[in-house]
Amino acid sequence: ELTVCRTNTLAGKKVIVTAGGTREPIDPVRFIGNHSSGRMGFALAKAAVLAGADVTLIAGSNDHLETPPGVSRRIDVGSTRDMKAAVDAYYDDCDLVIKAAAVADYRSAAPAKNKIKKNDDVLNLKLEKNPDILYGLGQRKTHQVLIGFAAETTNVIEYGTAKLKKKNLDMLVANDVSAKGAGFQGTTNIGTLLYADGRVEKLEKMSKFALAEIIVDRAAKIIAAKQE
Ligand code: CTP
Ligand code: CA
Repeated sequence: ELTVCRTNTLAGKKVIVTAGGTREPIDPVRFIGNHSSGRMGFALAKAAVLAGADVTLIAGSNDHLETPPGVSRRIDVGSTRDMKAAVDAYYDDCDLVIKAAAVADYRSAAPAKNKIKKNDDVLNLKLEKNPDILYGLGQRKTHQVLIGFAAETTNVIEYGTAKLKKKNLDMLVANDVSAKGAGFQGTTNIGTLLYADGRVEKLEKMSKFALAEIIVDRAAKIIAAKQE
């Protein structure tokens, strides 16, 4: 059932929310990025504030979104490695991480110092893998609750479950981005919540803020259950 009780369910809890996309420089004027709007993450920050949490919002590229009122601190970041440094700095004493950011999996192995000129007909860029921020958090998890996101186009539950396990998460929000009304752009989303105990909660299409309130409600319940 989709009812949400927002009254101070996260009072006294420290929450990190990551939002938007990371960008990897190719040269001083170009980057590798993605279409993340940041809206899902900003909605989560707002919902967590309304639930009484102390919220650290770590924001990659986004549609010039305003910081939701009541967010304790906002840290704007560029690359995946910048985002990792910011998340790691606040991780140890936080209670909940919601990793809605769309993280660039690869970066240029050697970003050019100067703007690349179009001299060649074929330009090869060598990419190297970025660190997996969430995987790192899962490896050194103590009391924290970890929530990841996964945008998939096929095998949503199967791939989602594999990520949940691999990254040692408490919950994963999987969206089928091939469905109408889900995904990076737009104001609605269709989430399926996968839990560490194997439960699967399918949600209807709803606004990103409504989905954010459900995610925050479920996160608070996971925290409460751990403390019992
Ligand atoms: N994530 C992360 N660091 C990365 C890549 C992803 O922290 N370098 C996080 C995302 O913020 C998200 C979750 O991991 O919460 C799943 O991201 P996703 O891109 O779906 O999974 P990947 O592990 O990168 O696998 P793939 O892109 O190959 O499907
Ligand atoms: Ca990825």
